[in-house]
Amino acid sequence: MQEQFSDPVVETTTQNTYGTWRFQKGWKPLHIVDAEGCYFTDINGKRYLDFSSQLMCSNLGHKNKAVIEAICDQARKLPYIAPSFTCDARADLSKLLLEVFPRGLEKFFFTTSGTEAVEATIKIARMYTGKYKIISRYRSYHGSTGGSIAATGDFRRIAIEPAGKIDGVIFAPDMDQYRSPFGVEFEERAAASANYVEHMIRNEGNVAAIIVEPVVGTNGILIPPREYLPRLREIATKHGVLLIADEVMSGWGRTGEWFAVNQWNVEPDILTTAKGVTGAYVPLGVTATTREIADYFESHYFAHGHTYEAHPITLAPAIAAINEYRRLDLINAARKQGEYLGRELQSLKERHPSVGDVRGLGLFWAVELVKNRATKERFFEAEDKLAGKPSILDKIGAVLMKNGVFVQSWLSHFVVAPPLIVTREEIDEGIRAFDDSLKIADELVVGSS
Ligand SMILES: Cc1ncc(COP(=O)(O)O)c(C=O)c1O
Repeated sequence: MQEQFSDPVVETTTQNTYGTWRFQKGWKPLHIVDAEGCYFTDINGKRYLDFSSQLMCSNLGHKNKAVIEAICDQARKLPYIAPSFTCDARADLSKLLLEVFPRGLEKFFFTTSGTEAVEATIKIARMYTGKYKIISRYRSYHGSTGGSIAATGDFRRIAIEPAGKIDGVIFAPDMDQYRSPFGVEFEERAAASANYVEHMIRNEGNVAAIIVEPVVGTNGILIPPREYLPRLREIATKHGVLLIADEVMSGWGRTGEWFAVNQWNVEPDILTTAKGVTGAYVPLGVTATTREIADYFESHYFAHGHTYEAHPITLAPAIAAINEYRRLDLINAARKQGEYLGRELQSLKERHPSVGDVRGLGLFWAVELVKNRATKERFFEAEDKLAGKPSILDKIGAVLMKNGVFVQSWLSHFVVAPPLIVTREEIDEGIRAFDDSLKIADELVVGSS
C-alpha cells in the first residue's frame, strides 16, 4: 500500500479514469489539469496552494523551466540506454552527487523510486555484512515492496502481514518527543533508546544494519535530540553494523540542509533518497554507499538491477534540479522561510485548543491534533485507519481544500511541507486556511485544554 493521505472530497473528475486503481470505495481522486509554482489547478479551474509539496516531493515547485528543459533535451538526445552502458547524464550526475551528498558516500545505484532504493539497500547491507537482521523503528515508513514494507514500522506493515514482507526486521524505540511510552524526559529517553539499540544488537546476533529516517517524515516529523544519531553511529561502528539513513523525504533541503544527517554531522554507511532529487518531475531513487561497501561488490556479484536502472530521462533532470537548488539558494531559503512557517504554525496552537503539538525543522512541519491537551488523546488511531473509519483530519483536509489549500493529513497530524520556493504571502495564505478549518476540531475538544 502506497502512502495516501486525506480523501479529496471534491467530486470533479472525468469518467474515463475510473478504471485506474485509485478509484476505490469512498475514494474519488480530484482531477488536476495544471500546476505552477506553489499552486495546482483542478478541472473546474479552482486553484490550490500546495502546502505539502504533493507527497513532500515537489521541492522545486511546479513547472520549473530548467528541469522541464532537461527532460526534453535528454528525450531528444538519448531517451534510453540499458544500465550496462553509461552516458553523459550518468557521468555528470554522479559528479554532482559527490558534491552534495554527505561526506563518505561515493557510489550511486539509481532506481526509479524510494521504495526500490531501500530494497537495494537491504540487499547490499545483507550481502556486505553477511548478516541478515535489520533494526528499524515503529514510527517509520520505508516503502511498499517486500523488504521496504518489512522495514516499515507503521500500520501499513500490519496490513500486509504475514505474506507480503521479508523476515528478519526488528524494531527499536522511537524518537517521539511529544509522546513517550516510558514517561521520562526526552533527552534521557533518547540516550536510553540509543543504548537499547546496542542491547538489541548484542542479544539478537546477526544484525546487518540499523535503518532510520534521520527526521521521521510521514509518521510525524520526529526530530531526535542532538546526541541520538551520533550515538547510533558510534554503536553501529563498534558492532560492525551498517547505519542506513533513509532520506527519501528528509533530503534535498527539506530540513534546511542538503540532507538531514548534516544537522548532526553524521556520516551514514548508506543513504537512500528519491523525491526531491528531481523535485518529483521524473521518478528517480538513489542508493549511495561508501567506497568500502562498493568495493566489496567489485568481487561479489550484486544480483540486483532494473530495466529502468539509471534511466537517462531520470538522471538529466536530477542534474538540472541540483543546479536549481543552488541557483535559487533553496537550502538557505528552506531554513529562513522555515523559521517563519514554524512561528506561524506555533501561533495556531495559541488560537486552537485542538492543536496539541507543532514541531519541525526547515520547511518540514507537523501539526498534531488532540482531543485533550492534558491526556494527548488522539482523534484517530491506526486501528481506525485499518478498519476504514472516517477521520476528522480528512474532514478538516476537505475544508482546507474548499478554502484552496492542500495539506496532507496522516493519522493525527498534518504534514506541512511547502515547496522550498514558497513565499511569506503563500505561507500566510496556508495559515489563514488552517485558522478557519481547525474550528471543526476545536469544537470536539473534550475537558479543559
Ligand atoms: C522515508 C521514506 N522512505 C521510502 C519511501 C518510499 O518512497 P517511494 O514512495 O518513492 O517509493 C518514502 C515515501 O514516502 C519515505 O518517506
